[in-house]
Amino acid sequence: MKLGVIGCGKMGTAFVAGAIRSGVVAAADVIGVDPIKAARDQFATATGAQVAEEISALAACDVVLLCTKPQDAGAALGHLVAVSKASPLVISIAAGVKLAALEQAADGRARIVRAMPNTPAAVGKGASGFCMGQLAQEKDSATAKGILGSVGLAVEVPERLMDAVTGLSGSGPAYVYLFIDALADGGVKAGLARADAIRLAAQTVWGAAAMVLETGEHPAVLKDMVTSPGGTTIAGLAELEKHGLRSALIEAVTAATRRSVELGK
Ligand SMILES: NC(=O)c1ccc[n+]([C@@H]2O[C@H](COP(=O)([O-])OP(=O)(O)OC[C@H]3O[C@@H](n4cnc5c(N)ncnc54)[C@H](O)[C@@H]3O)[C@@H](O)[C@H]2O)c1
Repeated sequence: MKLGVIGCGKMGTAFVAGAIRSGVVAAADVIGVDPIKAARDQFATATGAQVAEEISALAACDVVLLCTKPQDAGAALGHLVAVSKASPLVISIAAGVKLAALEQAADGRARIVRAMPNTPAAVGKGASGFCMGQLAQEKDSATAKGILGSVGLAVEVPERLMDAVTGLSGSGPAYVYLFIDALADGGVKAGLARADAIRLAAQTVWGAAAMVLETGEHPAVLKDMVTSPGGTTIAGLAELEKHGLRSALIEAVTAATRRSVELGK
């Protein structure tokens, strides 16, 4: 695979570093394009891949990651298909830019995948939803999953659920930072040093998340397993329920999903 990257910013760099680290592609087979020299330099240093100033350098790429800001995505895609030798697979991570707009910009000369990643991709622990364009084929789904999955988890959904992905995993890291900060406050209130409290809280969130992903158990089953009768955990859980944590989180995802729909209009 010859992988091209349009936009060597934070996300473009994170995805390419992950894809190379996990062996999905070799650094020698990647070219990153960005008009800004500083972006090209940091991309080249972080990934070991080649860089270029012009999109025409991607003419022979069979897969292209489109990692510009949303407002630059259409023009960059139009430029790409104008110079491409064959019809490339384009994986766009531009937030909120719909398949129809991308397909119009590509004018039928690219197979399109639209993805919504999140920032933990920068440390290889991202969560992405992605959906397939009209011309995309079965094997393109596997390719997209391989690249997006190289920096975490990748789940294919129909496009109508991309707003829900945005409301849950796209915005979700911020909800979890708030949760960790608040847990740490509780620890500090109970006498722990701030630095210790933050590390214990973050590791607890990480460990519990790993238990859900690695055991495949329903989170409620895991919760019941650590909740002994009359013990400390049920005392804490009862307070969370009394203060509506569960419904607050449901409403947060609902509000963020609704906002994503509004912004997409
Ligand atoms: N950062 C996030 O949390 C996050 C999450 C989900 C989706 N996204 C999406 O990822 C995309 C990139 O975000 P980022 O944070 O990496 O942005 P960034 O600003 O760090 O990088 C974008 C890069 O694109 C370059 N660029 C612009 N026009 C170009 C063109 N025509 N050809 C080549 N390069 C061009 C810019 O010079 C810049 O270096 C955005 O569309 C954003 O919506 C970001």
